[in-house]
Amino acid sequence: MNYKIGDILFTRDQISARVIEIAEEIRKDFIKKNVGQELFVVGILKGSAIFVADLVRALGHDIDVRLDFMIISSYGSDTKSSGIVRIIKDLDTYIENKNVIIVEDIIDTGLTMSYLLSILERRSPASIKVCTLLNKEERRKVPVSIDYCGFEIPDKFVIGYGLDYSGRWRHLPDIRIAELVRI
Ligand code: IMP
Ligand code: MG
Repeated sequence: MNYKIGDILFTRDQISARVIEIAEEIRKDFIKKNVGQELFVVGILKGSAIFVADLVRALGHDIDVRLDFMIISSYGSDTKSSGIVRIIKDLDTYIENKNVIIVEDIIDTGLTMSYLLSILERRSPASIKVCTLLNKEERRKVPVSIDYCGFEIPDKFVIGYGLDYSGRWRHLPDIRIAELVRI
């Protein structure tokens, strides 16, 4: 199977407008419940690199934001995850008693996020929320409760704005369908 760059699903303008709205939702929830506390943002690399960079810059000056990253790699093919996740880089600091938001590029089967949640919940954070740019609900194999979601998408493989196919096309500013090429 091979893919080529296909049609735009969400333009860079649609994405940036939605990122502002998500940041606003997070701000409202956080300021209401957690005045004076840190908001510990965990970006899951590599896919969320671009999204989390835009998202944290939209959070504003009046929240005490901390940003850390995990690099994970899920075993599987280029387009399907196996649910077995290898931590390549863990968080640099403890999250005990912290208000954590995990930021992902996309939730597909849910296997990666449910595994990540099980790891991070064991570290006793004060709260843990899930923020994903994209959600492919119809592909779900294990339930994941999502607190903040950018867009619901159909069962198509998508690329751009951080999302890759086999390491490629993360740099594209719009989110596009990866089109199957029959060779
Ligand atoms: P899950 O474990 O099946 O939920 O898969 C989550 C991971 O698979 C994401 O973090 C992505 O890295 C990758 N993935 C799933 N669907 C897509 C897609 O349409 N484009 C790019 N990566 C995807
Ligand atoms: Mg990926």
